[in-house]
Amino acid sequence: MSPATPPYPARGAASYWEPVWQRGRRFRAIDRTETEALGRHLGTGRGRPALDIGCGEGALTAHLAALGYRSVGVDCSPTAVALARTRHPAADIRVFDFDADDAAGLPHPAFAVITCRLVYRWAADKPGFLSRVRALLAPGGVFWVVTSVHDPARGAPRSWDCDAPDVELLTTGWSRVDVHELDPSFHCYGLRP
Ligand SMILES: C[S@@+](CC[C@H](N)C(=O)[O-])C[C@H]1O[C@@H](n2cnc3c(N)ncnc32)[C@H](O)[C@@H]1O
Repeated sequence: MSPATPPYPARGAASYWEPVWQRGRRFRAIDRTETEALGRHLGTGRGRPALDIGCGEGALTAHLAALGYRSVGVDCSPTAVALARTRHPAADIRVFDFDADDAAGLPHPAFAVITCRLVYRWAADKPGFLSRVRALLAPGGVFWVVTSVHDPARGAPRSWDCDAPDVELLTTGWSRVDVHELDPSFHCYGLRP
């Protein structure tokens, strides 16, 4: 099991994340190595829809738009959404709880690309999260996941690391799985149904 799972199910993801954002917490920035890996896997958007789940400050949502995707970023935290809209005024950023809200509220019924960066680790119901992603992926689509993973060489897992069962669950049942190790404990996964 992962070392710590936030107490989502009863009170909703925002009950955990909104105070985190209000306290001013920030997360690892996207660097060039990561955008190059993403570009190699996803290619240009050509107007296709993309969904960035748990978009936080919106950097990845805006990057997808710059690649030519019709990207929408969703986050359960109103503070994160307000910050993202300030930083990326042209981006489509919405308050939306991916665990709880009705997918009919999203602007497209299916997406060519779905991303989640530093989010999967925190999903309280990972099988449910993955089922919802699969239901929203267009035929030929790609699910792009960026996450910290436990590197046994570093000792005990950090609270934000996915453990081996988390990774196995994430990577099982796809027709193609591509893994980019940005460093031994920070990986990108390109997953195709
Ligand atoms: C660690 S932060 C990462 C933010 C951003 N993706 C990044 O890479 O900087 C996790 C984000 O996921 C959001 N989040 C967590 N659970 C969510 C859910 N069920 N629905 C929507 N957003 C969620 C949080 O509010 C938070 O902004």
